[in-house]
Amino acid sequence: MFKFKVDGALDIGSTGIKLVLYKNKKIDKIEIVNYSNITEEKIIALEESLEILGKKINLKGKNLIVTITASKFHVKTLEYNNEDEEVNLETKIEEDLEDIILGYTKDEFITQIEPVYENDLNKKLLVVTIPIEEIEMILGILNHFKIRVLKIIPDFIALNSLIDLLDQKSGKETVENIMIVDIGGETSKIFMSTLGVLNMLRIVGIGGNDFTEIIREHEMLDYEGAELEKQNLELGNDENRIYKTQSEESMFQDLTSVVNELTTQIEDSLEYFNSNLGEGEISKIILTGGGALIKGFKTYFDDSFDIPCEEINLDSLNLEYKNMEDKELLSNFRMMTLVGALIKEVV
Ligand SMILES: Nc1ncnc2c1ncn2[C@@H]1O[C@H](COP(=O)(O)OP(=O)(O)OP(=O)(O)O)[C@@H](O)[C@H]1O
Ligand SMILES: [Mg+2]
Repeated sequence: MFKFKVDGALDIGSTGIKLVLYKNKKIDKIEIVNYSNITEEKIIALEESLEILGKKINLKGKNLIVTITASKFHVKTLEYNNEDEEVNLETKIEEDLEDIILGYTKDEFITQIEPVYENDLNKKLLVVTIPIEEIEMILGILNHFKIRVLKIIPDFIALNSLIDLLDQKSGKETVENIMIVDIGGETSKIFMSTLGVLNMLRIVGIGGNDFTEIIREHEMLDYEGAELEKQNLELGNDENRIYKTQSEESMFQDLTSVVNELTTQIEDSLEYFNSNLGEGEISKIILTGGGALIKGFKTYFDDSFDIPCEEINLDSLNLEYKNMEDKELLSNFRMMTLVGALIKEVV
């Protein structure tokens, strides 16, 4: 009946918040506020960064789609026989969640169920659940800043919408199984998507912050100094590098070992996902997230996997911008979740 107009999207990540506003069918404004102190409690960091954001952009009364980082959610892929339906599927899922998730009760969690696949015998479901308390806390803060939240979605769902839309626009006739790897600040999310249906999410506890931490330790820098250093260094080619100090050499060894660890996790996921696929194999990897912005990072993946590792290209969306400089900013790896949240509503 009544439909709110969507003013934009807000991505609440583990390292900062990102906002995009949309007006007169154009990208109107984009802003990132990084948390100033990453060891601080996330709720306080969110309040502080909204305060900073609010001084740059008027947030009051804006109708926003909000995304929250995957690690706040419990995501499970569950399979059921169709006979179970007589036992009442909903009750069965609840019982299973009680077994899997510590402290789960129906009344204290919000759960969303997405079908992954179904045939005559059984069905597979992606079950996403979060404590209501967590949502209320975030809503409370956003409400304080007079932001109107139209929808809250997990970051990986937003990303999946974007990949799906781009896949549709590409006009390819073949059905592809795509693996998406989003390297965030604290975690990386690895999931699979077939015709836009999201399947098997894995959250790995490795992200861009691990690199910052290694640099900080070896170079005796503060967090900000280490972040800057991270943006300047380049991974790879360790054997031929001329090291200034012993400490620099061991820093690069540690950085490389984090990349290797993540590569192994992706390899394992590829193997696992492939062996659980109904049809075909994973044909490509899509890489995104700020953690992957370190120079030389993607080359590692290109060399490690047999299938292509691609970046997201927004060109086919034909977005219009009020300020042309925003085009480049929006195509940054860190912005893809935000684009996914917005695009589903405005295209
Ligand atoms: N130019 C850059 N070079 C290297 N790393 C970068 C660069 N810019 C940002 N990063 C890193 O990207 C990471 C943050 O990425 P991103 O914004 O995707 O995470 P997030 O969305 O906050 O986290 P999550 O998705 O896990 O909630 C940080 O570790 C940051 O240091
Ligand atoms: Mg993110």
